[in-house]
Amino acid sequence: MNRILAIHASPRAERSHSRRLAEGFLAALPQAKITRREVGRADLPHVNEAFIAAAFHSEPGNRPLTMQADLALSDQLVDELLDHDLLVISTPMYNFSVPSGLKAWVDQVVRLGRTFDLRIEDGEAQYEPLLKGRKALIVTSRGGAGMGPGGELEWMNHADTWLRVALGFLGIEDVKVIAAEGEEGNPDAFRASCQQAERELASLAESQWTRP
Ligand SMILES: Cc1cc2nc3c(=O)[nH]c(=O)nc-3n(C[C@H](O)[C@H](O)[C@H](O)COP(=O)(O)O)c2cc1C
Repeated sequence: MNRILAIHASPRAERSHSRRLAEGFLAALPQAKITRREVGRADLPHVNEAFIAAAFHSEPGNRPLTMQADLALSDQLVDELLDHDLLVISTPMYNFSVPSGLKAWVDQVVRLGRTFDLRIEDGEAQYEPLLKGRKALIVTSRGGAGMGPGGELEWMNHADTWLRVALGFLGIEDVKVIAAEGEEGNPDAFRASCQQAERELASLAESQWTRP
């Protein structure tokens, strides 16, 4: 049985296309155990000085209680991530990237000693990802079109492309992206793009890829 962590990043609820498409995928996996984490309609804190001091403390096993408190939410989100083998992220493109709630979630779970390690070898930083073997699906919706691989406006896309880099840094390298494009353009073309995304998600749900 798959353990799926579903991260929803749109501030919109019923009107969100990325959320609807991702929920359709999840509904096609009735055997999976699904945990939902809202980051689009919740206020996740930004990284601040207290967080940095605690997260990069020289003796992580010996943090003062105040620092442990400063990392409590981050620890909870990391535990949640570690507890699942498939990550499903639904997100709009906002200003060529992801909404700030999703960026805040990534900032909370990229944690030294928990999701990645760092050693200095011969004066060089060596990063070691700690989440190897997990998979991720990114379901995204964009107002514009042509921002996928090979598209005319691909160079503008710092949303799913950035997420892929951040997840890869943690060792999650098996990442699939399914996108609906053109919400701000021709309604028929956008409907067709959503239908294409639904077909791709349905076939992914039926494939071996979703098996643990
Ligand atoms: C604040 C804001 C910024 C946006 N920025 C972009 C953008 O940079 N590129 C783009 O193609 N669409 C952009 N859009 C359009 C959304 O990506 C599009 O409406 C998408 O379908 C929203 O996803 P959702 O339905 O899951 O909320 C933006 C929308 C908003 C509200």
